[in-house]
Amino acid sequence: MGERGTNIVLIGFMGTGKSSVGRRVAARRGHRFVDVDRMVVDKEGAQITEIFEARGEGYFREVESAMLRSLAGAEGLVIATGGGIVTRPENVEVARGLGFIVWLTASEAVIAERVARTDKRPLLRTENPRETISRMLAERRPLYEAAADFTIDTSEMPHSEVCARIVEAAES
Ligand code: S3P
Repeated sequence: MGERGTNIVLIGFMGTGKSSVGRRVAARRGHRFVDVDRMVVDKEGAQITEIFEARGEGYFREVESAMLRSLAGAEGLVIATGGGIVTRPENVEVARGLGFIVWLTASEAVIAERVARTDKRPLLRTENPRETISRMLAERRPLYEAAADFTIDTSEMPHSEVCARIVEAAES
């Protein structure tokens, strides 16, 4: 296995708090926060829903992988990834090289409630989002689990506490 970097990489399903927690962890450590979804949006000059509509999911995944890869070699970052990052084994390899991988989880009910607050997630624009979430979670759970160095359930915990536990785990 290769060298591991000093970054913290947050993985997990949509709605598990990767961006908000990531921002906090970065502030707490005095590190820079980077959001891979944001990098894709900036690179393409279009919102994620627009990219999916105009170019399809395959294209989005290509850009997403390229953005993650472009971080290789960086140090001292807190990186939030998109929920689908683990669906490509090459992304997991890159994430491992970047550093400590934290899997944020939440119950299906909490995820459903959180993601219902926006319509910015193309994969959940289905007839029955709850069923879609359930199916995708079942498919992805083993992938997140295999990639993670540390796991934390955000369902009931305030972000401040999630953040404190991640910082502690990363430093131990
Ligand atoms: C996706 C999650 C989204 C975004 C895109 C696809 C996924 O990111 O990358 O809509 O496949 O789970 P968040 O997890 O930040 O919502």
